[in-house]
Amino acid sequence: MNPPLPKPRLLIARAVFPEVIQRLEACFEVDSNQADTVLDATQLAGRLGDKQALLSTAGDVIDEALLARCPSLRICANLAVGFGNLDLAAMSARGIVATHTPGVLTETTADFGFALLMATARRLGEGERCVREGQWTKWSVDFMAGQDIHGSTLGILGMGRIGQGVARRGAHGFGMRVIYHSRTRLSPADEAALPARFVGMDELLREADHLVLTLAHSAATHHLIDARALARMKPGATLVNIARGGVVDEAALVEALRSGGIAAAGLDVFEHEPAVHPGLLSLPNVVLTPHMASASRATRLRMAHLAADNLIGFFETGRALTPVPAPALSAPA
Ligand code: 8YV
Repeated sequence: MNPPLPKPRLLIARAVFPEVIQRLEACFEVDSNQADTVLDATQLAGRLGDKQALLSTAGDVIDEALLARCPSLRICANLAVGFGNLDLAAMSARGIVATHTPGVLTETTADFGFALLMATARRLGEGERCVREGQWTKWSVDFMAGQDIHGSTLGILGMGRIGQGVARRGAHGFGMRVIYHSRTRLSPADEAALPARFVGMDELLREADHLVLTLAHSAATHHLIDARALARMKPGATLVNIARGGVVDEAALVEALRSGGIAAAGLDVFEHEPAVHPGLLSLPNVVLTPHMASASRATRLRMAHLAADNLIGFFETGRALTPVPAPALSAPA
């Protein structure tokens, strides 16, 4: 009888749920970073150098310099729907498969996008701070007066699964008129079902009372929302970003918020996470959250199981379940 084949070696770059580790341990020799320290490039290379598989998160940069030090690596399962942290060209040149976690986080993330929109437009953070800080002394007619959600125009930039989830909530729950711009236009049937109207970028910026960003970050979308784009928005508009920080020029946003170029912003993602532009921290008309849009326990567990399914499926059948689509550049989430 032949001795059993050695299990492939897997690095889990950040802490994940014990039940997911248990599943993975049945198939892999697991090195799990349960201490949850953020591994820098050198530490990551040190632990990944002899592994065939990686379970990464959006904060782990998987680039050519790292891959060159990991000659055995065959698959990287990203615990995120976004994959801007992966150098797909370098991975594909080395025959390394990349997977992500689409679908399972759509509704949770869209819920949060809508919550952030409401908090931003209706000044929830400001109101809460005012009460806590003992600043609430009297009622006034324009005290904490914000922007209406119902009946307003919702603009969506990047109409993928999450964008459609936000659009559905706006159209069906709040009677919003939905306009959108995206790399890929929806089918007429999908547009009618939401309903949502495809418009050019200019019209989107000009007409939206609330603009929600749900597009992927890539070289093509980096700083798409810059000073020029912000200047085209309505002065009373709100901007919500649940996509990636790099889509917005944060310095230009600070200026627009300071000068009244737009009314308010709700940001769950930042250019240099977990650092936040100091200008944003001191502005009252910004709601800031720590990249938590997909953070319900059930959804994070589903994401981790899907990443595990990809790893196990790949080594059992040679095929991953949810590979990053090709071509992936600027595909909406
Ligand atoms: C994750 C996300 O929480 O899925 C994504 O792309 O941005 C979030 O859901 C985060 O990326 C963790 O890896």
